[in-house]
Amino acid sequence: MAFKRISDLGDLTGKTAVVRVDLNVPMADGVVTDDTRLQAVKPTVDAVAAAGGRSVLLAHYGRPKGTVVPEMSLKPIVGALADVLGRSVGFAELGDELPDAPVVVMENTRFFAGEEKNDPELAARFAALGDVYINDAFSAAHRAHASTEAIARLLPCAAGETMGAELAALDKALGAPQHPVTAVVGGAKVSSKLAVLEHLVEQVDHLIIGGGMANTFLFAQGYRVGASLCEKDLKDTALKILDNAAEAGCSVHLPTDVVVAREFKAHADNSIKAADAVADADMILDAGPETVKALKAVLAVSKTLVWNGPMGAFEMEPFDAATVALAREAARLTAEGALLSVAGGGDTVAALAHAGAKDDFTHISTAGGAFLEWMEGRLLPGVAALG
Ligand code: 3PG
Repeated sequence: MAFKRISDLGDLTGKTAVVRVDLNVPMADGVVTDDTRLQAVKPTVDAVAAAGGRSVLLAHYGRPKGTVVPEMSLKPIVGALADVLGRSVGFAELGDELPDAPVVVMENTRFFAGEEKNDPELAARFAALGDVYINDAFSAAHRAHASTEAIARLLPCAAGETMGAELAALDKALGAPQHPVTAVVGGAKVSSKLAVLEHLVEQVDHLIIGGGMANTFLFAQGYRVGASLCEKDLKDTALKILDNAAEAGCSVHLPTDVVVAREFKAHADNSIKAADAVADADMILDAGPETVKALKAVLAVSKTLVWNGPMGAFEMEPFDAATVALAREAARLTAEGALLSVAGGGDTVAALAHAGAKDDFTHISTAGGAFLEWMEGRLLPGVAALG
């Protein structure tokens, strides 16, 4: 799908760009604790300024469900955003006269009931704030909301710089990738990533399943998983996914050895067991060293890697070992130029950062839910509206 970029909007001298950004940042006691999403706003604001225009930013914060919740105001973010942008940033509510500033943050779009309903009337009020519309919030593009979807039909529109870079990177990973393509899908539950697994077996050459969800696949194949996290009711679903993978020529990689403990806590007494030797009281908390060795060999023959979800209980040492080892290997191969690597999802990014591998990945998505929906092969409404 081809998108207009900011440069296609022409000279913006004297014009205002209404820019949808994602300011849904983590906060503690009114202070932004991770400014990754604020940093992501800068390239577009700079590009609009370079074209002579100013930016009015639309964004949501939290899930106030169409009512004004003062704790979810975007006002406390303005100072941190101004620091990151290096520009003065004003703040306004819809209906106010806009302050005379190069960047203005509008109050939380989700304070209006029409936002989540994709209401054309609210979209028209947002559109009236400017002359062109730029969507730079890939991480909110899975929502068909007034500020992400309906508004795109009312003004000349373009993908912002961060959105554009994200779409280009994702296209290289699953749209038109170099094969062999390997996907790592980890995390606790198969049920939360069913559509992802179903789609990926049709797309990738190797599917590495890790974390709690691997237990469900092991159980489905007749292994005993003891006291491990396991969705036993999804046995048939897991078998069907394995059948579909075999038919599509996708190799599915499950742990052949595991790290087990009797308690779910950091530094719990643990041991390494073959995947077919798990006792009733054992909890599988990580993949074992033999598995890690085999998975490194899979990465070594891969050209493209897409990663979502950790391989084990990575928040608790020493059950982070498989995630850390695999992440570092992916980072090493990427730095060598042998692998194109893309990762997304809050937990995943935290796991890669914990492994010290994040900066070497080709692309780290700013998105959580949107990244998963993209991995499901869906065209996101906020992206489709720009086409
Ligand atoms: C996110 O934080 O992933 C995005 O801002 C989307 O938020 P939402 O899940 O509340 O729509």
